Amino acid sequence: MVSEWHRQGERVALVPTMGALHDGHLSLIRQAKEHAAHVVVSVFVNPTQFAPGEDYERYPRTLETDMEKCRSEGVSLVFAPDRNEMYGSDDEERPHYLSVRISGMNRHLCGASRPGHFEGVLQVVNKLFNIVRPDVAVFGQKDIQQWFIIRQMAEEFEHPVEILMGPTRRESDGLAKSSRNVYLSPDQRRKAPMLFASLKRVSDTLREQILKQDADSGEIPVPGTLLSGEKQRFAENGFKLDYFSIVGTPDLQPVDVIVPGRLYVIAAAAWLGNTRLIDNVLLNTR
Ligand code: PAJ
Repeated sequence: MVSEWHRQGERVALVPTMGALHDGHLSLIRQAKEHAAHVVVSVFVNPTQFAPGEDYERYPRTLETDMEKCRSEGVSLVFAPDRNEMYGSDDEERPHYLSVRISGMNRHLCGASRPGHFEGVLQVVNKLFNIVRPDVAVFGQKDIQQWFIIRQMAEEFEHPVEILMGPTRRESDGLAKSSRNVYLSPDQRRKAPMLFASLKRVSDTLREQILKQDADSGEIPVPGTLLSGEKQRFAENGFKLDYFSIVGTPDLQPVDVIVPGRLYVIAAAAWLGNTRLIDNVLLNTR
């Protein structure tokens, strides 16, 4: 089907997902439609990006309603392989001898607390790019480290695909939409918007300092108290903070000074009970 579209010179966009589709995913689909005649959505809960003890088994699986949502968004094809189709039924039938190695870009943020996660993501996205051969692929800003690592893979491995970023869709109180939000208790749900509020506060403070700075006076140090104050607020509200960091792009290494003209990511991950929430804001100093 896809090769037929390619033969006819029609552009194909891919939106990879793990299903349990929400407005965030649907907004990526709408964005994809602006760039291609056909949108392919993949729905696959990829086992290789979950570590033992993570939520692979309990991850929400709602293929029927996902298909309906895709249909009403005008998606041309939903690719929903099962585990065997992607990885073979057992190691003897289709052994895995290769893996992708990521240097540096996974050392901080989610990569630090989820060893092997981004290698698993690249393993499956690499396969998806080769199976679907999309002209464009859309990934959300919500998973910002994933976005930069995938874009790097596309560049370094010469995948002929343009990687687009879709803005993070949020609930009215600021909480980033996520398939994992269904795990939150009512009390945790009330507290969850703190994550975005905190990231915005830090970003606004830094932006103000950049504006105050003379045009050519150079670097702006990140005040140590800025992050420690936020970290304390999380602790007081029952969050277990995983990280709260400011990193440069595209290398995703932590910085303690902001250089005007560059793009930074302010990112955080925190546990509320058994649910891990992540979010980020971009700090564009250009
Ligand atoms: P999943 O978590 O299902 O997310 C699929 C895509 O939706 C990702 O690009 C993600 O960044 C985006 N997304 C999630 N929440 C969003 C929101 N609130 N607003 C906008 N976009 C949002 O990310 C994965 O699946 C997997 O790692 C995958 C790339 C499919 C590889 O298995």
